[in-house]
Amino acid sequence: MYQTLLTSAENHILTVTINRPDKLNALNKTVFDELNSVLDEIAGNTGIRSAIITGAGAKAFVAGADISEFNGLDKAQAMALAKRGQDTFFRIENSTKPIVAAVNGFALGGGCELAMSCHFRVAAEHAKFGQPEVNLGLIPGYGGTQRLVHLLGKGKAMELLMSAHMIDANEAKLLGLVNYVTTPETLLDHTRKILDLINSKAPSAIAGCIKAANAVFDEKTDGYDTEIKEFGKAFGTEDMKEGITAFLEKRKPNFTGK
Ligand code: COA
Repeated sequence: MYQTLLTSAENHILTVTINRPDKLNALNKTVFDELNSVLDEIAGNTGIRSAIITGAGAKAFVAGADISEFNGLDKAQAMALAKRGQDTFFRIENSTKPIVAAVNGFALGGGCELAMSCHFRVAAEHAKFGQPEVNLGLIPGYGGTQRLVHLLGKGKAMELLMSAHMIDANEAKLLGLVNYVTTPETLLDHTRKILDLINSKAPSAIAGCIKAANAVFDEKTDGYDTEIKEFGKAFGTEDMKEGITAFLEKRKPNFTGK
């Protein structure tokens, strides 16, 4: 169905594998087009409750934007390229269904930016993170300067952006960039277990958490106000009635997403 992505659905989780292993899964135009199609699928398919993004092969999650597409671009074309990347990654960040990065190797440049746009990250122990754009005379263009500061704080982010230094999975965990470090063999199972737990909760409440937490980083939005609105919205859902009733009846809730 896709040229550069593999997808498989199991237990309401869609696993999306970026599949250009000979180019270390670098993000080219086709990958972006297909990521946008898969985001439509995630949003529109009621059978999908959450998604995992990972990379094909043992070596790389994504080793960056496809550098071969940078050759000969003028300023306006480069800005359009950055805008396309940012828009796609905003869609991931604002997805109402959880999208988690399972980082199975190099997450460099656009790969680190892709992982950071996901709601959180799980990494295999050999994974490496970095923003090496300054090695190419560039800066990150897909939100990396912003999200790295949000996730790591300004000091460490500044150092990584300016030095192109790569950090390993354990350092990334210490810095709060990844939530868990696993063996390569258990990466996907571990990530799926976390999503199984999340998928057992009310989907509209999950969507509300995502919206309110994202509002912290949106200067145009008052996060506390978003929280009030999302809290109120929950009271109009069947799932909230089911959650309260199940608690009072001392049974497990059965959430339907309504
Ligand atoms: N864009 C396009 N192609 C890329 C790529 C990228 N970001 N990253 C890797 N590749 C390609 C290589 O050109 C090579 O292709 P080839 O076999 O046709 O020559 C293939 O993937 C394997 O990469 P290679 O460099 O041979 O592997 P390595 O193990 O020696 O090094 C890295 C791995 C990740 C350190 C190295 O590939 C690298 O530095 N990549 C670029 C990272 C980067 O700067 N990303 C930010 C881009 S803005």
